[in-house]
Amino acid sequence: MILPIVAYGAPVLRKVAKDVPPDYPNLQKIIDDMWETMYASNGVGLAAPQVNKDIRVFIIDSAQIFVIQDDEDKGKYPDEPGIKKVFINAHIAELDGEEWSYNEGCLSIPKIREDIKRPEKIVLQYLGENLQPHKEEFIGLTARIIQHEYDHIEGKLFIDRLKPLRRKMLQGKLNDISKGKIRMDYKMMYAK
Ligand code: NI
Repeated sequence: MILPIVAYGAPVLRKVAKDVPPDYPNLQKIIDDMWETMYASNGVGLAAPQVNKDIRVFIIDSAQIFVIQDDEDKGKYPDEPGIKKVFINAHIAELDGEEWSYNEGCLSIPKIREDIKRPEKIVLQYLGENLQPHKEEFIGLTARIIQHEYDHIEGKLFIDRLKPLRRKMLQGKLNDISKGKIRMDYKMMYAK
């Protein structure tokens, strides 16, 4: 089932999400719906708060970027061909390496793209789809998408990482998004 995506301005996007408790109902169904929702809106990652769920769950498919990239970008990123993965109850164990810039967007903040600096490496402790524990290192575009989605479960958004002046310049556009004054080709949900 395709779920509406929560637009900028909704309080759920600003909460620090909670670990999923063992008795949480219908977790697999939520994850299935998140995949369907992400692909339907051409995203490469989606976090549970973006579908109005206050839990530490996110999904990424970095392979999607490599599928559509230009031939001249082949071999540019060390994590090619990317991965498709579910992260449950993720917590950062390590954030390391040189910061690099990449033009990011977000399904909750449509039609805004900005260059964002992030470190090159992330080590995460998390549960996989079958709730098995992992500690794993990620680099390249995969590490980039993971950091963006991890921000979501910490109540942060990529625009928080902009310089104050740049952020100020976007305020009008952001207000329009929160009021629903945008037309998207996927379904969105707005703050009341
Ligand atoms: Ni996002």
